[in-house]
Amino acid sequence: MLSVLQSRDSPWHLDEVLKACQWDDQALVATAGHGLTNHGLVETHESSRIDWRLGEEGLAAKNNGLLEKRIWDWLKTQEEPNMAGLSSHFGKQEAGPGIGLMKNLGVRINAGILVWDDDESIEETIVKRQNFIEEIHEDEEMISHFQSRKNLIEAQEIITRTWQITHSGKEMSTSELIEKEIVTDLSPELLQQDDWQDMAFKPFDVSLQASMPRTGKSHPMQALIERIRSIFLEMGFSEMVENYVQAAGWNMDALFIPQDHPAREMQDTFYLTNPEMIPVSDELTSTWKSIHETGGETDSVGWGGTFDENVSKKGLLRTHTTVNTIQYLHQKPTEPCRVFAVDRVFRKESIDRTHLPEFHQIEGIIMEEGANLPMLVNTLKTFYAKMGIDEVRVRPAYFPYTEPSLEIEVKWKGKWLELGGAGIFRPEVTEPLGCKWPVCAWGMGLERLAMLVLGLDDIRQLYISDLAWLSEQPVL
Ligand code: PHE
Repeated sequence: MLSVLQSRDSPWHLDEVLKACQWDDQALVATAGHGLTNHGLVETHESSRIDWRLGEEGLAAKNNGLLEKRIWDWLKTQEEPNMAGLSSHFGKQEAGPGIGLMKNLGVRINAGILVWDDDESIEETIVKRQNFIEEIHEDEEMISHFQSRKNLIEAQEIITRTWQITHSGKEMSTSELIEKEIVTDLSPELLQQDDWQDMAFKPFDVSLQASMPRTGKSHPMQALIERIRSIFLEMGFSEMVENYVQAAGWNMDALFIPQDHPAREMQDTFYLTNPEMIPVSDELTSTWKSIHETGGETDSVGWGGTFDENVSKKGLLRTHTTVNTIQYLHQKPTEPCRVFAVDRVFRKESIDRTHLPEFHQIEGIIMEEGANLPMLVNTLKTFYAKMGIDEVRVRPAYFPYTEPSLEIEVKWKGKWLELGGAGIFRPEVTEPLGCKWPVCAWGMGLERLAMLVLGLDDIRQLYISDLAWLSEQPVL
């Protein structure tokens, strides 16, 4: 680069240097230029200019028209445009700021009626503004106008650099320059021999500009799931993966959730039309029936009332992963186990900042001799500690299938946040399955945890393909 720059006195642009050096990576120019500048052989000049582009509102205005344009178009269609009409046509949110804009353009309000004198000048200003938004160009007046409005246009600073040979740079005879190999990475191979002692090393310059590498990586949510998986595997658990289409009997009856429980209603659970019914053996439904009605062979008195075996066969999207836990125990009631699942569940929630109809649970059980509440609490605390969350507490809670039941809360930014439920399965649940030992069980929300770990205040961020946000996410 030095010998190239020596060939003329005037500054060189990036493209020129790239071409003359036969390089195709601008990082090389930046690095070499920086090195030469440090040695006083070259001078780097930086200039910056502002480029304007559309902000969020600007993009909307480009597609739908500026607010004043839409109001103006509407005004022109009205015989006697009034405030009430404007509010009902544009809604409160737009009518307020809209009338401000119109007043600035010369529209007045006369006893609720909108009046103006000069059609032409209003029209002209609006057309000019709309044209500007449709194609941003150098126009001082428009830029200063839109700068004063929110999110319509945004400034972007563009920095250009040029490199120019200095006096001492010119003096430097390139034939005196020696090409020398310098080591940039100290590898284990190098260290195994003695040669490294005579080598020249490239010093690090952490002040250098560099571009962010844009490589593929796991979605933060997927990365988090992987991390949770490896924590449970490390703690000696094995994973279960199961279908989310299930019969209500497994999702609810087997868990001693009464048939008139509100969570069973259509407005809370997604029932399926295909398959509308899922076969469940008569043996199971009659066991559930007797447990629910009278407590069956357990010491319980059950819920009373009449149990409907057809309800057990209704197909649904599982509302919790506990449905799979219970099936696991049904298959292996006498083998001590530690199993977990991180999987999707469905509930009819309306979507907002903290709710989605489709989300994930972190589910797990421990069945073994002497399994008890302290063991359960310790396991959960250990899990959260491994996730980097040290302040965890439990509070008494209620679930139809556990006793005692508890809620798990973690401290986040000074507040206690509820992350899930847990408890020891009731005899009504475990006895009919023939479980040999007490079962500690839990089910915790994954998205909530993700919000904490990733510092989000809106859960939806996890499921929209916001590339800018995704590329900024740390590798978990
Ligand atoms: N299934 C419960 C829920 O969805 C959580 C839970 C699991 C509670 C296991 C106790 C035992 O909220």
